Amino acid sequence: MSSPHNAANVGEIAERILLPGDPLRAKYIAENFLEGAKLYTDIRNVYGYTGKYKGVEVSVQATGMGIPSFSIYVYELIHTYGVKKLIRVGSCGGMHKNVKIRDVLIAQGATTDSSIVHQVFGGAVNYSLISDFDLLEKAVANARKLKLPVKVGNVICTDRFYNDYGDVNGIFGDGKRSLNEKLVQYGILAVEMETAALYLLAAEGNVQGLGIFTVSDHLLTHEEVEPRERENSFNDMIKIALETVIE
Ligand code: HPA
Repeated sequence: MSSPHNAANVGEIAERILLPGDPLRAKYIAENFLEGAKLYTDIRNVYGYTGKYKGVEVSVQATGMGIPSFSIYVYELIHTYGVKKLIRVGSCGGMHKNVKIRDVLIAQGATTDSSIVHQVFGGAVNYSLISDFDLLEKAVANARKLKLPVKVGNVICTDRFYNDYGDVNGIFGDGKRSLNEKLVQYGILAVEMETAALYLLAAEGNVQGLGIFTVSDHLLTHEEVEPRERENSFNDMIKIALETVIE
């Protein structure tokens, strides 16, 4: 049996998985970090592979960009394939002044402008989207063991890459301060587009989820990492994620 968006048969996807957005990054991780990696799906060119890391079966599944695409793949991974430990490995846009391009960040929590929480709970509660503490603790410990500095905190997960949140005269600006400036005041480190869905789906499915990112661009300094570098050079983050997912 497979699922509507994934050609894998049940049993071909490991309980432990890394989730990049970009299919070519899934291929890169499979080819450079996993032993004996086998492609189990290429539907829509959204690749998924299973192989071994340090003798433990691990999969890597691309998800596409944004909450709707991500949620389709991750819902099926949890509910059809029985995946239990899910680590998103992605890029994010730095917002806080303490965050620099190429830093590795871990999302302890995800704030979102998406309606997904409202779609689940109505207006009854503002459900907190949080990472799995066991994965978070292990990821921080593994980063320290590997001597790789990481920053841990809250990220904003947006539905629109192109928005006016940086504009003091934008819809949430007050003429003096933009929404982004206010978010930074409240401790938001960075912006990305999928982790709120990971934390909501993981909670719903009673499985473990964590988001780890490298900072590919910065909203304050406007520095950017080259797109080709995004595809190939995020090895520190991937090492932390793999060491954590196999524990
Ligand atoms: N915005 C949203 N998502 C992102 C960004 C960004 O600037 N950079 C990497 N992912």
